[in-house]
Amino acid sequence: MRKPIIGGNWKMNRGTPIETKEMLEKFIPLVVGIDTVDIVIAAPFTALITAYEILKNTNIKLGAQNMYFEDKGAFTGEISPEFLKEIGVEYIILGHSERRDIFKETDALINKKLKKALSTDLKPIVCIGEHLEEREMGKTKEIIEHQINETFKDISKEAMIKIIIAYEPIWAIGTGKTATPEQAEEIHIFIRSLLSKKFDEETADLIRIQYGGSIKPNNAEDLFNKENIDGGLVGGASLESDSLTHIIKAADKSIKTG
Ligand code: PGA
Repeated sequence: MRKPIIGGNWKMNRGTPIETKEMLEKFIPLVVGIDTVDIVIAAPFTALITAYEILKNTNIKLGAQNMYFEDKGAFTGEISPEFLKEIGVEYIILGHSERRDIFKETDALINKKLKKALSTDLKPIVCIGEHLEEREMGKTKEIIEHQINETFKDISKEAMIKIIIAYEPIWAIGTGKTATPEQAEEIHIFIRSLLSKKFDEETADLIRIQYGGSIKPNNAEDLFNKENIDGGLVGGASLESDSLTHIIKAADKSIKTG
């Protein structure tokens, strides 16, 4: 049985110490005691130290949204995974479509970052997904297969089970247009079949695959009830403690009702 994981991806929307404190202090009591779901808040770099101080000793883990693949050196503006680790970051989002599209991150770069994250003992959440035009041209599976092959190149079976995959159809991110649970499940099954071919069935069954793209309190439950959807990566709805809590409770319920 895979434990669902809900990640709140704050993007560049909430990042000052004051607003971080304000959100997290409201949020912590709302999800206290929930241990059936892994809960992660991925905050901007400027919020991480504040967030760590507030979240330590709670059931909420800290994530970052990006990192570089070197520990130290002349890389102006970049952040080392070692720095993140040292301030209490456990999870790292890699290859988000905004990093791929706006900042031109390639599969090869994401693969380098992924290997570095694994060797630093950060838990990677790796995003994959197709653009609207690609879906309309019937190329979704081809794109997903290519991203899986390139992003997870030379990753061992043992490493692979530490990775969380986030399937995020790009046309559903921040648009209010969610994939239907059936559309999402179809691709999750496809991803699992690719993993099974690349590794083996047992490994594929252990890997958690989140859905991401306009998850809201009113659609979360139907998504999480699908067998291959192991939680979600939540953008907009993670900014408010109430909506994020509702989504976490939907994941919790999906386990309890089996
Ligand atoms: P959204 O973002 O929930 O606002 O669509 C999801 C994401 O980009 O991870």
